[in-house]
Amino acid sequence: MTPKPEHPSNRRKALLTLAAVTVLVVLFVMMGRHWIGVAEQQTQTGTATIGGPFELVNHEGETVTEADFAGKYMLIYFGYSYCPDVCPTSLADMAQALDAIGGKASRVQPLFITVDPERDTPEVLADYVGHFHDRLVGLTGTTRQVKKVLSDYGVFAQRAPVSDESEPYLLDHASIFYIMGPEARFITHVSHGAGAEAIAAKLESVL
Ligand code: NI
Repeated sequence: MTPKPEHPSNRRKALLTLAAVTVLVVLFVMMGRHWIGVAEQQTQTGTATIGGPFELVNHEGETVTEADFAGKYMLIYFGYSYCPDVCPTSLADMAQALDAIGGKASRVQPLFITVDPERDTPEVLADYVGHFHDRLVGLTGTTRQVKKVLSDYGVFAQRAPVSDESEPYLLDHASIFYIMGPEARFITHVSHGAGAEAIAAKLESVL
């Protein structure tokens, strides 16, 4: 028996599948390895459990807790200073949104919590947050302190596998903004990539 020649339509299907997979992989890489869907799902299913008390170190090296921001709305973004693309874009949007809401912004405390405490020391964060907004506070801490806050906020973050050990490592992490009320309770979130106008609109709606 001779093997059946491959049916042309099967081959076409295989090629289409390959093309689709390639497009997905390229998209994933372009997103800067940010796991958007994960955080999205968590905020939709577990709103009651997002947040909680934290103890971290600010970019001036002082220990701070959620009580230090009491009375203010917290606009929180989780990321890391080595992030090549998505974090800087998100923080620029955050800064633009704060400027857009004018005087009301004084009731909002923007926070950048690192998912990479090993490299994001207070000194590194001080330099980093200064590029975005003069009121943006960078928060880091021990691995344990950061792990706790990531877990309480349902933020996924994990070191990405590297092909070249000499290259700086990247982290896969959720990209999302959280808006917490003056008592540090979760109010709402803004999805990744929504843009400055969407962040400003959400802030306006809660302030
Ligand atoms: Ni990032």
